[in-house]
Amino acid sequence: MTWKTLDDMDLAGKIVLTRVDINVPVKDGAVTDATRITRIVPTIHDILAKGGKPVMLAHFGRPKGEYVPELSLKLTLPALREHLDCDVKFIEKPDRASLEAVPRGTAVLVENTRFAPGEEKNDPDMAAFLASRGEVYCNDAFSAAPRAHATTEGVAHLLPSCAGRLMEAELRALEAALGHPDRPLIAVVGGAKVSTKLALLGNLVEKVDHLFIGGGMANTFLAAEGIHVGKSLCEHDLAVTAREIMDKARGTDCTIHLPLDIVVAREFAAGAAHEVMGIDDCPEDGMILDAGPKTVAEFDSVLSNCRTLIWNGPLGAFEIEPFDTATVKAARAAAEATKSGKLISVAGGGDTVAALNHAGVAEDFTYVSTAGGAFLEWLEGKTLPGVAALQG
Ligand code: 3PG
Ligand code: MG
Repeated sequence: MTWKTLDDMDLAGKIVLTRVDINVPVKDGAVTDATRITRIVPTIHDILAKGGKPVMLAHFGRPKGEYVPELSLKLTLPALREHLDCDVKFIEKPDRASLEAVPRGTAVLVENTRFAPGEEKNDPDMAAFLASRGEVYCNDAFSAAPRAHATTEGVAHLLPSCAGRLMEAELRALEAALGHPDRPLIAVVGGAKVSTKLALLGNLVEKVDHLFIGGGMANTFLAAEGIHVGKSLCEHDLAVTAREIMDKARGTDCTIHLPLDIVVAREFAAGAAHEVMGIDDCPEDGMILDAGPKTVAEFDSVLSNCRTLIWNGPLGAFEIEPFDTATVKAARAAAEATKSGKLISVAGGGDTVAALNHAGVAEDFTYVSTAGGAFLEWLEGKTLPGVAALQG
């Protein structure tokens, strides 16, 4: 895979159409978590430093081609101005004259691209209109890359294009983890449901040396092996699929690891009375809420021989104590191995970031992706249109 970066582009005096993902959470008209805004700072900074004019294109929510006042990107302006450390001019629709009149050192934010009906249709006219507004296209929105829209895909074919710093970091981390990993490679896949992760498991079984399955989805695999899981979260209808995945692993070099012991409670509540048991001992009215200490010890021992880790999803009900124990212990072991230089660790998707933050180790992983769906689709082996359009 090859793509150009900002280092390969001559930006002096040029208008740089810069696709960013500032689809941030808001409450009462104010941004409540500016993480996504902080992650585009290096790109905007570097474009300005190279004498370019960054013109930010972004979607916000799902207005479906119509103007929706609450979804105006105007409400991100205070946060953008605070974090970008430069003046930010807002425009409804980019016309060439007003973009040219913007002084050097100022960034431009264009109104929500999804207000235009052409955006989600990847309308060639919209892409051509945008391309006529700038000289260079920079895509820094990995998390929007699963969408083939005018601002994420169409316009990339019409201008000299490159990846922004955040896109570059995401692609490098994912390439290092799954493209050309140092082996042995271990993947941890947890979370509630197998049904949302079938494609991902099917792809990982072909690529990784060890696959650790945890969380509610491990119960589906245990049940598929004939183990009684009581009242645990379990997709019994997916037993055949789970067995197919295990069969597929037998035909490859991938070893699947299921829990060796379980933590069982009678109710799903913080501090609920609980017991550590063997996997065969879950009572009819019991619920498996975490993996037990033998499982964590097994994880530690496998991990100590691995060079690369991909992590998606918690190993237990980490949001209620003490059922966060296996997740926290395993995450800390991975963080320690990373800090001592023995492991490359890449994490992302859904609850994963929350789980690593809860364990206090997100900073210690080699890379934590800001993308949810895009990270999962990458693990599924899918081609992301926004990334493919940058190939050259
Ligand atoms: C996100 O927030 O997940 C991305 O910005 C993509 O948004 P979308 O799912 O509406 O395309
Ligand atoms: Mg989404």
